[in-house]
Amino acid sequence: MYNFSAVRKIVAGPEAINSLGKEVKNLHLKKEKVLIVTDKGVMKAGVIDKALKPLKEEGIKFEIFDEVEPNPTDIIMDRGGQYLRKINAEAVIGIGGGSSMDSAKAISAIGCNKGSVKEYFSYLNLSPEPFENQPKPLIVVPTTSGTGSEMTPFSVITDTKTNIKRDVFTWQFAPLVAITDPLLTISLPPKITAETGIDAFVHALEAYTSRDSNPFGDANAYYAMKLIVNNIRKAYADGKNIEARTNMMIGSTLAGKACGNVLLGIVHALGEAIGGRYNAPHGLTMAVCLPFSMEYNFIANPDRFADITRLLGKNTNGLSTVDAARLSVDAVRELLNDLDIKEDIKLMGVKEDSLSLLAEEALGSCFTDSNPRSVKLEDYKQLLSKLYFR
Ligand SMILES: [Fe+2]
Repeated sequence: MYNFSAVRKIVAGPEAINSLGKEVKNLHLKKEKVLIVTDKGVMKAGVIDKALKPLKEEGIKFEIFDEVEPNPTDIIMDRGGQYLRKINAEAVIGIGGGSSMDSAKAISAIGCNKGSVKEYFSYLNLSPEPFENQPKPLIVVPTTSGTGSEMTPFSVITDTKTNIKRDVFTWQFAPLVAITDPLLTISLPPKITAETGIDAFVHALEAYTSRDSNPFGDANAYYAMKLIVNNIRKAYADGKNIEARTNMMIGSTLAGKACGNVLLGIVHALGEAIGGRYNAPHGLTMAVCLPFSMEYNFIANPDRFADITRLLGKNTNGLSTVDAARLSVDAVRELLNDLDIKEDIKLMGVKEDSLSLLAEEALGSCFTDSNPRSVKLEDYKQLLSKLYFR
């Protein structure tokens, strides 16, 4: 038996942002007052103006909470929740990358429930509806093609007590509407385009190879990988290539749709451990951990990894399935090389004496059990050692 849930409505394509006011109207709010949750980068880049225009045209009242930071913390989300309560907005709009959308999810819930978001850290998969009161209706607008948060029931929250990233999972967090407009990504610099695009690719790859995979997730993940692989180099090389930007946005949304229903693997377990402790960009941690994790994993599901080799453009004729699967590691290294991603975990500030601690944190991730190959503490230590001494 499979369960597969999805966000109710996606409005996708160039200029989709112009429908934001109408989508708020469709929520039938009494006072038509919303809270926008975003970050200073979105405010500065002028993206916010593109969102405010359709709201103003429909006469929607709004306030802005722009305190979201990368790897957002419980403290920021609690503060946003208090602000939502104070201004008494009836709905939330999250605009930005994963940090803003994940914050908007938590704020829409905390703003109408008791306590701190910290009190919900343990709810992963344990309670379908941890929040007593239904969160405020949520509309999200991604400004990167990466996180897929617009489609998922996850909010990744950094616990300020432990510096560990927590994945809080509940379909109560699911947006009602996702507005995915590739034109909002046009001004993203190449480095961010590459790193966020690799994050999207990892969502699809880990969903496709997960022990938890299912046919509904597979369909989304497979096509997501195809779109991302065929367009990420083009979007990196020419950010104004609208066709490539559009395909990247659709790819990341489909990848999010898959991984919203399938638990992922060790790329996310390791990357989130590193990102939480060293405040490293999520997409970059994904890129750095990806080839080493694939090297570890491909023997667990050679058929799937051989598919990935072919999606990455390699000819597997005449190769055994295992050799075809092994080739996926080289193919992904070539992709990262073309995208000029050369960082390693030392450059992110990781210290040798913290490798054991990171291994323990990765082991505690909700994604350890769904990884295609069994992974124990010693395996994580060896993987981190390879990443450190590469
Ligand atoms: Fe991710």
